Amino acid sequence: MADLINLTIDGVALAVPKGMLIVDAAKTIEKDIPVFCYHPKLKPVGLCRMCLVEVGTPKIDPATKQIVKDEAGATVIAWQPKLTTACTTPVSEGMSVRTQSKPVIDAREDVLEFLLTSHPLDCPVCDKGGECPLQNLTLAHGPAVSRYDYADKQHNDKHAPLGDLMFIDRERCIQCARCIRFQDDIADDHVLQFHNRGRAEEVITFSTPGFDSYFGGNTSDICPVGALTTADFRFKGRPWELKTAASVCGHCAVGCNTALNTRLNTRTGVREIKRVMPRQNEQVNEIWLCDKGRYGHHFTHAANRLTHPLIRKDGALQEATWESALQLISDKLKTVPGQKVVGVIGDRLATEDAWLFGRLMTDVIGAAPAFVSPRTASAYADVARAAGLGADADFKALGKGDVIVVVNGDVEEQAPVWFLRLRQAVVDRGAKLIVAHHRSTKMHRYAAGIARFAPGAAAQWVAGQPAELAALKDARNAVIVFGDEKLSGHNARALAQSLAHALAEAGHADKPNSGLVPLYPHGNTQGVCDAVDPSRGAMPESADVAWLAGVGDPADAPRAGFTIVSELFLTPLAAAADVVLPAAAPAEREGSYTSGDLRAQRFWPAHPAHGESRPDWWAFQEVARRMGKDWSFGGPEAIFAALAAAHPAYNGLSYAGLAAVKPQWPMVGRAEVNFGGTVYDNTAGLGARTARVPVGGAAEAPVEPTLADLTRPEPALYRAGDLIRHSAVLAGRLV
Ligand code: SF4
Ligand code: SF4
Ligand code: FES
Repeated sequence: MADLINLTIDGVALAVPKGMLIVDAAKTIEKDIPVFCYHPKLKPVGLCRMCLVEVGTPKIDPATKQIVKDEAGATVIAWQPKLTTACTTPVSEGMSVRTQSKPVIDAREDVLEFLLTSHPLDCPVCDKGGECPLQNLTLAHGPAVSRYDYADKQHNDKHAPLGDLMFIDRERCIQCARCIRFQDDIADDHVLQFHNRGRAEEVITFSTPGFDSYFGGNTSDICPVGALTTADFRFKGRPWELKTAASVCGHCAVGCNTALNTRLNTRTGVREIKRVMPRQNEQVNEIWLCDKGRYGHHFTHAANRLTHPLIRKDGALQEATWESALQLISDKLKTVPGQKVVGVIGDRLATEDAWLFGRLMTDVIGAAPAFVSPRTASAYADVARAAGLGADADFKALGKGDVIVVVNGDVEEQAPVWFLRLRQAVVDRGAKLIVAHHRSTKMHRYAAGIARFAPGAAAQWVAGQPAELAALKDARNAVIVFGDEKLSGHNARALAQSLAHALAEAGHADKPNSGLVPLYPHGNTQGVCDAVDPSRGAMPESADVAWLAGVGDPADAPRAGFTIVSELFLTPLAAAADVVLPAAAPAEREGSYTSGDLRAQRFWPAHPAHGESRPDWWAFQEVARRMGKDWSFGGPEAIFAALAAAHPAYNGLSYAGLAAVKPQWPMVGRAEVNFGGTVYDNTAGLGARTARVPVGGAAEAPVEPTLADLTRPEPALYRAGDLIRHSAVLAGRLV
């Protein structure tokens, strides 16, 4: 329990942890001290003076060194002669603070009047209007009139590009440095800086290309004015026109919590995603998103989405009804022995889809368990499930005494928000970092120990019991983050097994904040592998019938006499299929994902499905019913309940449980835009950790990498994939 400090704010007594700043202490009793430059996730700088308050401390008798009491026995407070910035002053025992006195109110008015002398006052056309701290605080605390002559205003660039993803309106900037501090202190991308002095001071970028960071979008959220607008959202809608649905990013294994803002396109009558915003989950993404998660949503409304089922007739795919497509599939499956059917499911689908697909293959069709694509990641998901993080694990709890090892992974490229969080554990809180890779990554900047091995030889390196891993035995907690770069499925599994073994050897197997963290390719690789319990042997090259659900276009897809493809787009694989089923996008349906650190999280529909596309689970159930199975799942909640009853990792979990929330710190969200920025508070659910499930079998020996392993491209956040290639704003970034 942290030492508590007693103080009063406006006469209200409270006790808060030692070291807390006055501005945060006031927040704990829901008292707002207005701020601009202060942000609860950034180190204070005291730049704007908006948070001035009166501060007093117990009067000390210089002779006796004792606290002076008045006649009634109350402590006499010595008030400081000048106002103090609440954002830079920590609480102290017996402190008194006045946030509503005349000098404080006058100071706020003065600060606002001063800020507005160089502000364009274009609120009616400003993107931030409706969620702007400057607008809100001016209404609450500002002067009714300005003594400043409007004609004397300094004019500046209004739409200057800060790189390809962000624009700056220099007239609106109030020089709070939140954007610069985020980039310096949180992202460690030093790409923004102040330029010039006095009224000519402005934010510039000095990187090539401009604003070169994977995290730039966050600066728009925390900018307290409309100075920073994203290329994606600017002029696309006003906050009061937007509806919001809670979702989870599926682009990587972090599982960042998001809020999808939609707006009705009155021309087309279609409700569309206009922006993706962070939703607070302090154990997952805190209040941050990477730019892939923020801007990679355009595939949902892509013009070439599949709208109808397609059936091959006379050699060509032709539009068909769902009824005819489902009947054709089930008629075909009834005529083929189960062993001649192969099912492959992609790791982008929801856990509920995967569960029904797995049951459809084994229980209804009588086929072998489905395969999961990509094959490499599915080879070690059961090992990661067995040795993953414990139920209460939180990267924020990692610090001094803890060891983080990154093996064969590029955390910033593969799981950007984990990069932010693990970096803070090392740089801000003193965890020890060891990085082992065949090449350099950004994580190497913070490493206390570095090991190198030949490309594709990660498992061999671990099997050799390297000295770098001997550090593990003295660690309070040990977290091992690993990737499958340049590894075959076999070698990736061998790597996971040997890392799990190293953790167990060092005594970390059952600790809550220790475990393996795989850098899976997508947001639900773990959930899909859990639900399917996939076949791990060689995938057949051919079959009588193949059902390929959400797999994209992998080179190793089996050929079959009759191929069914469930997809968002007419991929080359779909174009060659016999039946194509249009799948609903994640934003059009309900479901859950399980992240790489084993957290199950729900997402909700943000708008109606495109055309006649339907959730994958629905199509799987319809086929099962036509084949005589009495499935009647009403939706993902019922499917999740069946999974939770059957799968030990999910036992005891429910949709209601995943939707539970509890108070989080710092207090951010829609009622708190003046304090935390435009991030959304989490009212929809924090998710829940799934459990470790032991896996048997000895560690397998790694084999020499093949040429195919070694020539696979290295992971890159903007590697052009089936989904992000539809985001025009990211076009210049794709590799
Ligand atoms: S652009 Fe916004 S966040 Fe950056 S200094 Fe200006 S007002 Fe502050
Ligand atoms: S870090 Fe991963 S989950 Fe989070 S926004 Fe980026 S791609 Fe999405
Ligand atoms: S000086 Fe305290 S919020 Fe800016």
